[in-house]
Amino acid sequence: MLRLQQLRKSYQVGTALQVEVLHGIDFELRRGEFTALVGPSGSGKTTLLNLIGLLDTPTGGELFLLERPTRELDDAARTALRGSSIGFVFQFHHLIQAFPVLDNVLMPALVQGARRSGELERRGLELLQAVGLAAHARKRPNELSGGQQQRVAIARALLTRPALVLADEPTGNLDTHSADEVFELLRSFNREFGCAVLVVTHDPRLAQRCDRIVDLVDGRLVGDRKVAAGG
Ligand SMILES: Nc1ncnc2c1ncn2[C@@H]1O[C@H](COP(=O)(O)OP(=O)(O)OP(=O)(O)O)[C@@H](O)[C@H]1O
Ligand SMILES: [Mg+2]
Repeated sequence: MLRLQQLRKSYQVGTALQVEVLHGIDFELRRGEFTALVGPSGSGKTTLLNLIGLLDTPTGGELFLLERPTRELDDAARTALRGSSIGFVFQFHHLIQAFPVLDNVLMPALVQGARRSGELERRGLELLQAVGLAAHARKRPNELSGGQQQRVAIARALLTRPALVLADEPTGNLDTHSADEVFELLRSFNREFGCAVLVVTHDPRLAQRCDRIVDLVDGRLVGDRKVAAGG
C-alpha cells in the first residue's frame, strides 16, 4: 500500500547550503502491517513520516501511496489523498482546546467539507466509546489526562477509516500504564479495521509488540526484521 523508491530529503540551511537528511530510502509497507520505526534522535524518523504523510515533499525519488505516485501531485490532490487515506497521531496530540472532545474527533471529516450529520456524530461517539471516553464527549480536552487526550487523538485519527495510520512517538509523553493503553488501542484498531500502522517509538518494549521493526540511522534504513511474536 506504501512504497518508497530511493526517497531523498534535503533541507535548506542558511542561504546556500543543502543538507541531505534522508539518503535514498527504499521501503514497502503492506496493507494491515503494524510496523515500528526506530532509530536515534536526529536520524530522520519525523522527516520520513512527514514525507509519507504528504505533509512535506521529497527532494528525490518517488513515493507511491495506494499504488499512486505522489511526487507530481499538486497541493489539492495531495490534500485530498492525505485526507482520505492517512490518519495522524503526534507526540503532542494537537487537540483544539476551544472545542469539545467530540468535535475534535469529528475534525478530520469537517475540514474535508463533510456536513455535521447525525451519522457523523454517531461514528465519532462510537470511536470515543472504543477508546473508553464516550462519557467525556462534551468536555474540553484539557479536562482530560494526557493519556486520555492521546486516546482522543487516536479516535480522531481513525475517523475517516484511513488505510494508513502514522504515529510519531504517540506514547512519548505518557507514563508506562497510559503508554500501554494507547499502544494497545492502535493495535486493536489495526486488527479491527486492517489499517496499516507505522509508529515511531523509542521504547524497545513497545517495538517488540509490533509485527516488524525498521531501523533508521543517519538517514539510512539499516535494519528491517519481523518480530517473532508480534502483538
Ligand atoms: N525543517 C528543518 N530544517 C532543517 N533541518 C531539519 C528540519 N527538520 C529536521 N531537520 C534536521 O534533520 C535531521 C532529522 O530530523 P528528524 O526530526 O527527522 O529526526 P528524528 O529521527 O525524528 O529525531 P527525534 O527522535 O529526536 O524526534 C536532524 O538533523 C534535524 O536537525
Ligand atoms: Mg522525531
